[in-house]
Amino acid sequence: MASAVNTTSASTLTGKRILLGVSAGIAAYKSALIVRLLKQAGCDVRVVMTDGAQAFITPLTLQALSGEAVRTSLLDPEAEAGMGHIELARWADVVLIAPATADLIARLVHGMADDLLTTLCLASEAPKLIAPAMNQAMWRHPATQRNVEQLVGDDWQLIGPAAGDQACGDVGPGRMSEPEEIFSAVAALFSAPSLAAAPLTTAPDLNAPHVVITAGPTREPLDPVRYISNHSSGKMGYALAAAAVAEGAKVTLISGPVNLPTPQGVTRIDVESAEQMHSEAQRLAPQAALFIGCAAVADYRAAAPAEHKLKKQEDSDTLTLTLIKNPDIIASVAALPAKQRPQVVVGFAAETQEIERYAQDKLQRKGLDMIVANDVSQTGLGFGSDHNAAWLLWRTSQGVDSRAETPQPKTQLAATIIRQALTLLSTKSLNKAAGHESSGESL
Ligand code: C5P
Repeated sequence: MASAVNTTSASTLTGKRILLGVSAGIAAYKSALIVRLLKQAGCDVRVVMTDGAQAFITPLTLQALSGEAVRTSLLDPEAEAGMGHIELARWADVVLIAPATADLIARLVHGMADDLLTTLCLASEAPKLIAPAMNQAMWRHPATQRNVEQLVGDDWQLIGPAAGDQACGDVGPGRMSEPEEIFSAVAALFSAPSLAAAPLTTAPDLNAPHVVITAGPTREPLDPVRYISNHSSGKMGYALAAAAVAEGAKVTLISGPVNLPTPQGVTRIDVESAEQMHSEAQRLAPQAALFIGCAAVADYRAAAPAEHKLKKQEDSDTLTLTLIKNPDIIASVAALPAKQRPQVVVGFAAETQEIERYAQDKLQRKGLDMIVANDVSQTGLGFGSDHNAAWLLWRTSQGVDSRAETPQPKTQLAATIIRQALTLLSTKSLNKAAGHESSGESL
């Protein structure tokens, strides 16, 4: 219902240029309501329809509601004389497709430009949202699922689909999301919180994913006053926590001893040793949708820390310590039974050579969904620095995808990592909701 639309969203949309693509589904009749909601919020809306869409709703209806001529053809000299298709692609602040059929999704995935709508999608650099609508069997089909996964990987933001009664009589996932939900997704694009302004005072979103992050070094006691540790500053983990809050997540940071302020909106749990970090991780992981192990956990601890301060031995120049292995925290989280395991588990790897190969090996060995590999041989990057470069590797239904991130501020890299991890999370949630978890993704 239009009345469900909040006015704060509406005011941020004034003057925004929305290109609405409509393809051939019965849900096309709901596009009329989407146009109305956008227009009421002050948007400038231009509609492009595929040939098939016009069998479900007439261009005249959408023209009357948008106040603009509806475009239907790529090879239309008259329309092109008004605003050419490249100009139209550049005009858009946002491209929204609702409804999107299985066929249109497949064509977009392959970068086809065989009609006006697909051509505009290729030519536009604006953020793109897509609301699929199809029969539940078509939605569940592995081909559609593969295509949707690819589309999300290509930076399309998915809206829905919802599950329920379908026009064809089936019940299941594939219904187009309601116009109000689609409108809210568009509005959210213009009101996304910035990294600097974490939403501390806004009401908690009960649907926000819970992200648990380990950060900083651990301290392994030798006696009451001495310990083994490392130079980790915690900056990367803290930047990840801030970036996750900025994306609207509920964030818990399990932090080793660092000299950093807690980012706004983050719940911080301080620990010292790897064993303490391990037990907090085990306690919190079952509540987490996304778990990121960014801590530089000491691999070993003293087998028997001394109860009292160790005395310097006057008769010996050496001191022998017996160390034992610490638990591998991230591997044990990734190995939790399915019901307790966070849907996405992300680890880090510091390498000095053959980064991608070693990282891929670690991804498999630790049972992770994604790994961020740093080249620690580069001076001025990584440990203690404000900058970092990384390889991102993540599992897909087909194998492993990767991307190199050039040297950049840790805050920027953190935002990229969080977005990639959340994309992975939504793809997995989607597959789970569709009852279609591929073997490559169910670790
Ligand atoms: O095996 P390596 O230390 O290179 O793996 C690094 C990754 O594993 C990081 O994500 C780190 O947080 C995690 N890790 C862990 N527990 C350990 C050692 C590493 O969670 N004991």
